[in-house]
Amino acid sequence: MIKSTLLKATKAAGLLIKEYAEKGFSINQKDGLNNPVTEADLASEDLIISIIRAEFPDHYILTEEAGNLPTDSNYKWIIDPIDGTVNFAHLIPLCCVSIGVEKDGEVIMGAIYNPFIDEFYFAEKGKGAFCNDKPINVSSQKSVSLSCLVSGFPYTYVDEPNGALEVFARFVRAGVSVRRLGSAAMDLCWVACGRFDGYFEQSLKPWDSAAGFLLVNEAGGKVTNFEGDTYSPYDKKIIATNGTIHDELFEWLHKTN
Ligand code: IPD
Ligand code: CA
Ligand code: CA
Repeated sequence: MIKSTLLKATKAAGLLIKEYAEKGFSINQKDGLNNPVTEADLASEDLIISIIRAEFPDHYILTEEAGNLPTDSNYKWIIDPIDGTVNFAHLIPLCCVSIGVEKDGEVIMGAIYNPFIDEFYFAEKGKGAFCNDKPINVSSQKSVSLSCLVSGFPYTYVDEPNGALEVFARFVRAGVSVRRLGSAAMDLCWVACGRFDGYFEQSLKPWDSAAGFLLVNEAGGKVTNFEGDTYSPYDKKIIATNGTIHDELFEWLHKTN
């Protein structure tokens, strides 16, 4: 029942944001420069919440735009109505709907749908990861220098020693392929399906990663925080890899120059 509601909400919201991309939408700004929220983000969120509430009126919901909607339930839905809003606002087809479901504090299911390239990702704890119903696996790359990596930057970039830009530059200067797509959820999906070998980012919110980190784990990869501990979506810093390059990437991220 949880699974069918999750699939239904993710798919419906994905199709809705695609409709908005075709017909046009209004844009407002949140805090910081270039931190938009569109009419489609809000409509997607409303639709997802209404689908969940129709089946599970007592479940806890944590969602980017409406915030924390707590209940006493041991189930929590963690929703990003559009991940990659800047891309969406520019009609760049690298954005998606992302929903993770937590039970007793552990993410048990996640779904991510990019309707523009029609890729629907789903993972269930202990049961594998899938793209459009086909099982997916992480890559077999063994070395960071031969890897294709991906990263992202927060909207409000606060400079700090060894911050996101310094770390990104380290790979560029060393000639390691590194990309910035602008959607943390897509980044994680593409590690899970082996297109990227590793992903790291320093300032995530739970809705950015709740579904995607489970996908990487279920596709045979490894996900930790920057201390090397098992990742939780409440950790801001993430390292998600194919597993094989994890320790080496960890070392690269902790260099001091
Ligand atoms: C953003 C994207 C981006 C990441 C930012 C997030 P949003 O989410 O996932 O890749 O670098 O930190 O805020 O705002 O487009 O849902
Ligand atoms: Ca997001
Ligand atoms: Ca968002």
